[in-house]
Amino acid sequence: MKNTFGQSLQVTIFGESHGPYIGAVLDGLAPGLDINEDFISSQLELRRPSGAISTARVEKDEYIIASGAFNGKTTGTPLSILIPNSNTRSGDYDKAGRVARPGHADYTASCKYHGFEDYRGGGHFSGRITAAIVAAGAICIDALKKKGIDIGTHINQLSGISDISFDEYSKGNTDDITKAINILNGKKFAVLNDDAASKMEQAILDAAKDADSVGGVLETAITGIPSGVGEPWFDSVESVLSHILFSVPGIKGVEFGAGFDMVNKRGSEFNDSLRNENGKVVTSTNNNGGINGGITNGMPILIRCAVKPTPSIYKKQQSINLNTLENADIEIEGRHDPAIIHRARVVVDSVCAIAVYDMLSSRFGTDYFSDPD
Ligand SMILES: Cc1cc2nc3c(=O)[nH]c(=O)nc-3n(C[C@H](O)[C@H](O)[C@H](O)COP(=O)(O)O)c2cc1C
Repeated sequence: MKNTFGQSLQVTIFGESHGPYIGAVLDGLAPGLDINEDFISSQLELRRPSGAISTARVEKDEYIIASGAFNGKTTGTPLSILIPNSNTRSGDYDKAGRVARPGHADYTASCKYHGFEDYRGGGHFSGRITAAIVAAGAICIDALKKKGIDIGTHINQLSGISDISFDEYSKGNTDDITKAINILNGKKFAVLNDDAASKMEQAILDAAKDADSVGGVLETAITGIPSGVGEPWFDSVESVLSHILFSVPGIKGVEFGAGFDMVNKRGSEFNDSLRNENGKVVTSTNNNGGINGGITNGMPILIRCAVKPTPSIYKKQQSINLNTLENADIEIEGRHDPAIIHRARVVVDSVCAIAVYDMLSSRFGTDYFSDPD
C-alpha cells in the first residue's frame, strides 16, 4: 500500500501541503491508551519551524482527533487526526510549479500521477505531511514510554561539526543513554554539546545567506526494548525500521550500530561479547546496534540517518518544464528550510515509535499496551 505502513498497527497518511487538511489514521491501537494532548502539542512544537534556521511558513498545527478517542483514551477503533493547513501561499507556486525543482519530487510525481498531482508546495511529497506523522507518533511514544521504552534523536553531524555520540556520552552505560534522550527531548535544537550546537546553527545561517542549504546525520537511540522482538528475514528489525525511516522525505541513508565503519574492523573488535549482569544478558559493546539476526537483543537500538540538504534552494538551477519537457532554468520562490535536519529529528523519533509499537504488538498482541506492567 502506498500510504499505509505496518502490520499489527497500521498508519495511513493523507493530505497535500496546500490542501485544506493533512492527517493520519492509526488502526490497531490498544484500547485505553492515554491521549496526552499536551504531549502531542509539544511534539508538534519540536517540528514547527522557528527563527532564521527554518522556513518562514509557520503553521499553528492545531489538530483535531476525529475518531477513535473517548474520555481522553483510545477506544481501539481507527484513530484519525486532522491538521488544518492555514498558512499557505499557493501563488508562490503558480509560476515555478510547472518547472521541476531539482532534488525534489516534482518530476517523479508528474511521471507517476500524469500531471494530476497537486504540485503546490510539493503537494503530498511535502515535509508538511510529517506534522501528521508527528501527531500520530506522539501517541505511540507516550505508550512506549509507559512500557519503559524511550526514543531520542540528535544531530550527530552537520557541515563537518560533530556532536558527542550516544556511545561516547554513555561510555557503555545504558541508563546514561536514556538520560541523554531525556535531555534531547527537552531541546528544540537537539544537540548534546552546546558549543557544537551554536556552530551548527551558524553553519545553517551561512548556507541560508548563500541562498543554499545543508544536510547532516541524525543519530537515534531506542532504550528499554525487550529482547526477542522482530522477525528473522524479511521483517527483521532493521528492515522494518529502515522501511519507515526511508519514508521520511529527505532521508537518504540508514545505518545501525557501528554502521559502515564496521568494514574497517576485525571480528575480534566488532563482536559484542555477551555476559550475564545481575540476571540480565547484556553485551559489552553495541556495534550491532541492539539487533542480531533481525531480532532485538535487549541492548539499545542505535541508528544513524543521512539527511540530505533541502532541495529547494534560491540559487538559479537548470531543470525542465514539466508541461513541455524542454530545458528551463528555475529560480525558486516560496518559503523553504535552509536545513531540515533539526525539524526531521522529531519525525525520526515518531516513525521509530510507530514501527516499534507495531513490532511489539505483533510479538505480544494488541493488549500488550493496555496491560499495566
Ligand atoms: C520536516 C521536513 C521539512 C521539509 N521542508 C522542506 C522545504 O522547506 N523545502 C524542500 O524543498 N524540501 C523540504 N523537505 C524535504 C522534501 O520534502 C524532500 O526532499 C522531497 O519530498 C523529496 O524526497 P526525497 O528527498 O526523500 O527524495 C522537508 C522534509 C522534512 C522531513
